[in-house]
Amino acid sequence: AGNKTFTMLKPDAVENGHIGAILEQITASGFRIVAMKLTQMTKADAEKFYDIHKERPFFGELVEFMTRGPIVAAILEKENAVEDFRTLIGATNPEEAAEGTIRKKYAASIGENAVHGSDSDENAEIEGSFHFAGREKF
Ligand code: CMP
Repeated sequence: AGNKTFTMLKPDAVENGHIGAILEQITASGFRIVAMKLTQMTKADAEKFYDIHKERPFFGELVEFMTRGPIVAAILEKENAVEDFRTLIGATNPEEAAEGTIRKKYAASIGENAVHGSDSDENAEIEGSFHFAGREKF
């Protein structure tokens, strides 16, 4: 057991055929999959999910990108899940991401950066509940 984080394999990662490799790296790093699905966000979904970024100059681009194709949404469990997952994925900008991190390997740019990871325990709970009902969490 441990605490939880929420992730999305973003449309670029799905389009580029990286679902399997990324999930392999996540589970090999000690995360247990609590919930998972292939889904696509509507514009309204993405605007709500990213509400904290709505005043940012990149907000329109972010919503456009995140809705352009399917994503894999998942809840992950591990001790120290939020922090350890952010270490595993690497910096938001793949040019600054450490060697071996998921973004270093699979991300093309700061906007199309392959994977999302919650930034706090509180947001992990909010984001996981945005995508999953209680009976979908194992
Ligand atoms: P994430 O941290 O998952 O959620 C917010 C996203 O906004 C972030 O990933 C980036 O993909 C995106 N983002 C952050 N900064 C920029 C930027 N300067 N230009 C475009 N997208 C950005």
